[in-house]
Amino acid sequence: MYRIDIMTLFPDTVGDVLSESILGRAQERDFLRIETHQIRDYTTNKQNQVDDYPYGGGHGAILQADPLYRCWEHLCQQAEGKPHTVFLSPCGRTFTQADAKRLAWEHDHLILVCGHYEGVDQRFIDACVDEEISLGDFVLTGGEIAAMAVADAVSRLVPGVLADPSCFENESHWDGLLEYPQYSRPEVWHGMAVPGELLTGDHAAVERWRRKQSIARTRARRPDLFDKLDLSSKEDQKLLAELDREASQPLLPEKIVCRPAVEADIPAMESIAEAARAYLREHGVDQWQDNDPPYPSRAHFLADMARRECFVLDCGGEIGAFFTLAAGKDPNYAAITDGKWASDAPYVTLHRCAVAPQWRGSGLSDRMVRECERLALERGICWLRADTHKKNKAMQGLLRRRGLQYRGNVLVEVAEGHDPRRVAYEKRIRKQR
Ligand SMILES: C[S@@+](CC[C@H](N)C(=O)[O-])C[C@H]1O[C@@H](n2cnc3c(N)ncnc32)[C@H](O)[C@@H]1O
Repeated sequence: MYRIDIMTLFPDTVGDVLSESILGRAQERDFLRIETHQIRDYTTNKQNQVDDYPYGGGHGAILQADPLYRCWEHLCQQAEGKPHTVFLSPCGRTFTQADAKRLAWEHDHLILVCGHYEGVDQRFIDACVDEEISLGDFVLTGGEIAAMAVADAVSRLVPGVLADPSCFENESHWDGLLEYPQYSRPEVWHGMAVPGELLTGDHAAVERWRRKQSIARTRARRPDLFDKLDLSSKEDQKLLAELDREASQPLLPEKIVCRPAVEADIPAMESIAEAARAYLREHGVDQWQDNDPPYPSRAHFLADMARRECFVLDCGGEIGAFFTLAAGKDPNYAAITDGKWASDAPYVTLHRCAVAPQWRGSGLSDRMVRECERLALERGICWLRADTHKKNKAMQGLLRRRGLQYRGNVLVEVAEGHDPRRVAYEKRIRKQR
């Protein structure tokens, strides 16, 4: 059993904190024993005084060597081997996860000494202390909070205390990285959605996303740790290249709201559509190029709104994207060539969608497809279909990223002289938890 003795002037406070929750249960199951010891109990004067003035003058009092020594000696006499003694001090080396590992795995008995007042008589430190540990570059009133932090960090690495080593091996600082962001239910909270990668059910994709986020977070927040990382593997080099590319792309606002479009949104939608038409034209895609009237335009938006099928993504008061999510059978999908649909079950179709140019590459289009999936499930429908032009690689990439699969080719109605052929995609939407 791993043992930690804490010498302190406040044994009840420290003991209470360390007997809660996981550490409390570990002690009940005999993986661990943490005991606190009142330094005052080891004084020889009537007043149980443990401190006196500093030689040489100055403010405050100093914890005397003798009561500390007597307490420490008592603990050593009771111990089976020689305990490792740590003095918590702002003058010590800053505590890290590597120290927690070392203390947990190279020792089985720690004595943690909490100073108070202006500090501790140096002679006790010289005679009894094996190492001094600091919690950080700041000064606390006493060593108790630091001792509790060290005891907690060490204890959770003691075999048996946590259910499985993976509980701590995936955490921040284990391999020099900070942990990736974590999410739990609901999937959308206050307009903020869980990253789509975590909802794919693809274990390898989730692991890749998490490593990428860990690298990004460590680079942004802790360049000192980042500089020490070995990211020479092919996979990590790829992730770094992706992060560099993304760093030059716009950051989405935290709060994005998907709502039904209203007439007042139409001017913004028209200008997004105009930019999308120009983009497609520049990329040689014969889609949305029939100009009389331009497609999509006010009439299409109004008709979609009347059917309650037109939505916008509101990015902090500015329309970032629009889309139409049509219910019911699409006559253009009845005849499919070079493949077939996977299901005849009811489906929704993503039509007439575009992202504002300033949000291209930001992930807003992925968010749009996720909103389609959410809206479909709300309507009790679990199949999503979409089509796009063979040359529209951006749209095909988006559909594939979101798990839609190519099913074959369909024809759509377009003005004379334009290409009516489209590639068709389909997805069974997983229940969002
Ligand atoms: C007020 S502090 C004494 C600070 C001391 N006069 C100095 O300037 O280094 C009282 C006690 O709190 C504890 N303490 C304060 N800051 C700490 C830190 N950053 N890490 C660990 N222990 C700390 C030490 O046990 C210390 O003896």
